[in-house]
Amino acid sequence: MLVLGIESTCDETACAIVRNGHEILSNVISSQIDIHKEYGGVVPELACRRHVDLMIPVLQQALEQAKITLNEIDLIAVAHGPGLIGALLIGLNTAKALALALKKPFIGINHTEAHLYAAMMSLEAPVSFPCLGVLLSGGHTALVLIKEIGHYELIGQTIDDAIGEAFDKVARMLDFPYPGGPKIEKLALEGDAHKYPFKAGMIKGQPFNFSFSGLKTAVLYRLRGLIEEGLVDQKVKRDLAASFQKTAFEDIIKKTLLAVEKYQIQTILFGGGVTNSQTLRRMFNEKATHCTLVWPSIGLSLDNAAMIAGLGYHHYLKRGIGDEMDLEPLIRIPFNLLEKP
Ligand code: KG4
Ligand code: ZN
Repeated sequence: MLVLGIESTCDETACAIVRNGHEILSNVISSQIDIHKEYGGVVPELACRRHVDLMIPVLQQALEQAKITLNEIDLIAVAHGPGLIGALLIGLNTAKALALALKKPFIGINHTEAHLYAAMMSLEAPVSFPCLGVLLSGGHTALVLIKEIGHYELIGQTIDDAIGEAFDKVARMLDFPYPGGPKIEKLALEGDAHKYPFKAGMIKGQPFNFSFSGLKTAVLYRLRGLIEEGLVDQKVKRDLAASFQKTAFEDIIKKTLLAVEKYQIQTILFGGGVTNSQTLRRMFNEKATHCTLVWPSIGLSLDNAAMIAGLGYHHYLKRGIGDEMDLEPLIRIPFNLLEKP
C-alpha cells in the first residue's frame, strides 16, 4: 500500500511516500528556518503563506524521488493537529483536494502520535509492546505508555514549557537564533556543565511530570547578574548552555528511568526534534543500559511527513475507512484523544 504523507503543522512543509507503513520511498522536508530565525520563533502568518508556496513543489519532489505518479497512491495521510491553525489548514485542504480529485481515501493523523511512531519505522523487527514512548519536541514533553499502535496511556507531561521550547528560549537569551536546540548542544560541547548548578522542576506528588519554566528563569537571572558584572563572554555562554542542557537532560532521564521501573519497561521509543541531540542519546545510552533504546533514524526526529504516512497506514488498516470531508484541523489534541476508536 502506497501512502502519501503530508505535514504542515508548524514551520516545515513536508511530503513523503511510504510503502506499507515503514519503507520510505521519499521524505522531502522544506524548512522555513530562514524566515523565522530573525524573529526568535515561528511567526504563524508567515508560516501559512510559506506553506501555500511550498506545498505543491514539495509534493512534486516527493513523487519524483519515489518515482511514482499521483495515481499510484492508495491513501493520503495528513497531520490535522496539533499545530498552528493556518498552517494545518494548508496541509489538510491539500489532502482533501487530492482525495477528491484522485478518488482516494484520506486520513487525519495526530502529529504527536506520529512522533512516537517514527522510531518504530527504523526497526527491522516489530517492537514488543508495551513500551515507553518519550516525546521531546518543541511543543511537547511527555512520557507515554504505548500498549500498541493507537493505544496509549499518558504517564507524565510538562506542566509549563516543552523541552524544545526551553532550549529555544535559553538560546534566545544567549543571542542565538531560532531554533536554539542545536546551537545550545554545540556550545555545550566546549562548556563546563558543572559551572552553574541549576535545578529542573519537581512537582509534588507527580513524579512523572516535568517543569522547565523555573530552570529557564534561573538561567535568565544568572545571565542578567553576569551581564551586570560585565562578565559575559563566549566562555560564560558555553558554560551556561552546558549547565542548562545537563540539568534538563538529567531530569528527563531520571523521570524516564523511574517510569521504566514502575511499569517494568524493556524498550524505550524516542520521538520529537530534541531526540536529534547526540548528547541526549549519549547520556541515555550511559544511564539506561538495561533497556533497549530505539531512536528515530536520520530525517525522522524533526517534523517530517514519513512518520505521518507510516502511522496513517496502520490507522487505515485498523479502521478500514478514511475520514470524511468535514474533518477539522485541531490546534490542540489532548492526550486522551490520542486513541482513535
Ligand atoms: O519535533 P520538532 O521538529 O517540532 C515540534 O513538533 O515541536 O522539534 C523542534 C524542536 C525545537 O525546539 C528545536 O530547538 C529542538 O527540537 N531541537 C533540539 C536539537 N535539535 C532540535 N533541542 C536540543 N538539542 C538538539 N540537538
Ligand atoms: Zn513535531
